[in-house]
Amino acid sequence: MGTPAERGNGGAGPEAASEGGPFFTLAEVGKRNTAEETWLIIRGRVYDVTRFLGEHPGGEEVLLEQAGRDATESFDDVGHSIDAQEMLKQYHIGEVHPCELKPDPSKIPSKPPSGESSFWTVWWIPIVGALVLGLMYRFYLMDGKSS
Ligand code: HEM
Repeated sequence: MGTPAERGNGGAGPEAASEGGPFFTLAEVGKRNTAEETWLIIRGRVYDVTRFLGEHPGGEEVLLEQAGRDATESFDDVGHSIDAQEMLKQYHIGEVHPCELKPDPSKIPSKPPSGESSFWTVWWIPIVGALVLGLMYRFYLMDGKSS
């Protein structure tokens, strides 16, 4: 058993890593930022591009610039071809740990209202409405008496 990279890709062929992991923290990926070990993150997935450095048509510098980081934006900005997207699979070694991915705002449960604030939000409209109606009725009666 060696480094996480060997565990992730070790002899298992092109489909080495699956959706279920292995999982890496951002700090673990961040350490692989040299030409000896070059990892990057694209769309929450971790890629070991060390052996791809010399083969990348866009040059190794751009990969080294992104090494150890989330390269999603740079990768997309270039407008990589479908072939390039397919090539990603060969270098896939795992996933960013789910705890470190940006949370999806739609999945954050909204805070249930506390008893006191819910009382006022539910009742203030009928209470104010009743007061206004009461005042209008009072003025209507006073009008009737004066005429
Ligand atoms: C594992 C990740 C990557 C793979 C498999 C990959 C693959 C490729 C391939 C196949 C091409 C040839 C053009 C195409 O087919 O789209 C290419 C070009 C290029 N790539 Fe990447 N790439 C990767 C990551 C990156 C990253 C992170 C950058 C950062 C900026 C980058 C920048 C470029 C540039 C500048 C070109 C040249 C585009 C041109 O000459 O028109 N690539 N890449």
